[in-house]
Amino acid sequence: MNVYDSARMADVLAPLGYGPADSAEDADMVILNTCHIREKAAEKVFSELGRLRKIQRARAEAGGRLVLAVAGCVAQAEGEEILRRAPFVDIVLGPQTYHRLPEMVAQAARAGGAVLDTEFPPEPKFDFLPEPRVEGTSAFLSVQEGCDKFCTFCVVPYTRGAEYSRPAAAVLAEARRLAEQGVREITLLGQNVNGWHGDEDWSLGRLIRALAEVEGVERIRYTTSHPRDMGDELIAVHAEVEKLMPFLHLPVQSGSDRILAAMNRGHDRAAYLRLAERLKRARPDLALSSDFIVGFPGETEADFADSMALVREVGFVQTYSFKYSSRPGTPAALMPDQVPEPEKERRLAELQGLLLEQTIAFNQSCVGREMRVLLDRPGRHAGQLVGRSPYMQPIHVKAAAHLQGQVVNLRITSVHPNSLEAVPA
Ligand code: 5AD
Ligand code: SF4
Repeated sequence: MNVYDSARMADVLAPLGYGPADSAEDADMVILNTCHIREKAAEKVFSELGRLRKIQRARAEAGGRLVLAVAGCVAQAEGEEILRRAPFVDIVLGPQTYHRLPEMVAQAARAGGAVLDTEFPPEPKFDFLPEPRVEGTSAFLSVQEGCDKFCTFCVVPYTRGAEYSRPAAAVLAEARRLAEQGVREITLLGQNVNGWHGDEDWSLGRLIRALAEVEGVERIRYTTSHPRDMGDELIAVHAEVEKLMPFLHLPVQSGSDRILAAMNRGHDRAAYLRLAERLKRARPDLALSSDFIVGFPGETEADFADSMALVREVGFVQTYSFKYSSRPGTPAALMPDQVPEPEKERRLAELQGLLLEQTIAFNQSCVGREMRVLLDRPGRHAGQLVGRSPYMQPIHVKAAAHLQGQVVNLRITSVHPNSLEAVPA
């Protein structure tokens, strides 16, 4: 989501003459697009600001100016606090106001104090953003933002605001324009993307069916999903829409019923296992990935063992796992029995060991298989192209340059630590 937002900020600023710079030293303005999800990410902002402050000072001494902006969820959550801790920052803006960046930049140029805009405006920013600039053959298309689920550990409902779905017509029009410009793969984005409901009769399942009819669109993905919104229709779409990739990120967070309840996830372990089974029945080559949190307050050794057992039972091909990070303002931050740091670390290492085994086993099982691969960029060596498998694995192949941008059949020949190698099938 932040990668998408950063690209859109660049789009908004392009008409003002701004373009990407190689480094802060070369830039007229630096925008830090920040993440508040875990403490570590949030704290990084202040150390990075300290570094930029030095460049800003040197610039001022040479008679120039470096404008500093902090965008994203740390800006949303901390607002004034950023200006207190880093008074040299010129602009602070939240994730829902970046369509107003041109005004903020103009205001900052007139000097006279910092600009702060962390409103949740009534107008959706999507109505004011310019056409996204297309780079390559794969594009994100944001369809939904915000979250009303209030998992007890998570800041997103507070930093991104309430759930909002873009209308179906706007989404499909954007998809058509992307395809006309050569995009072959569209990833529908949202914090709770499968909770997207567009207008009246629209659900994500119907949207995916409509997207599959758009000329030029060959592959469709969506992320991130919530198990609670995984309805019958969407599962059926996995069976019926060939263009929908057989790879789904469906975070479960924990395998323990007690912890899932304390997290306010709204489903239990059995419901997740049932979903996984139904999805794999609908699309037998479907693979799942997930997010996990270890060391949620009150998580016992037995709860953790339930997570390990769930991982063994489902079998994930890729995962993101984190130590629970206490976030100010969330209910879990006030829960008793916070798990000691060394214990979180031990559990994380154990879980990640198992998850890595599963990723490696899956990659190895791909050798000999034929896959449809979107060759989206040149490789490092002449005569080589790099693409992505349906499962997002990077694939290297010796292939003619004119195949770049196409979906081709490849046979996987070997596995490297972070990629696969293939030959034309
Ligand atoms: N601590 C650790 N991990 C978190 N996540 C969200 N909030 C926290 C937190 N407080 C993780 C969840 C989510 C992913 C995007 O980040 O696993 O799915
Ligand atoms: Fe956070 Fe839960 Fe919403 Fe996901 S569903 S963004 S984890 S509150």
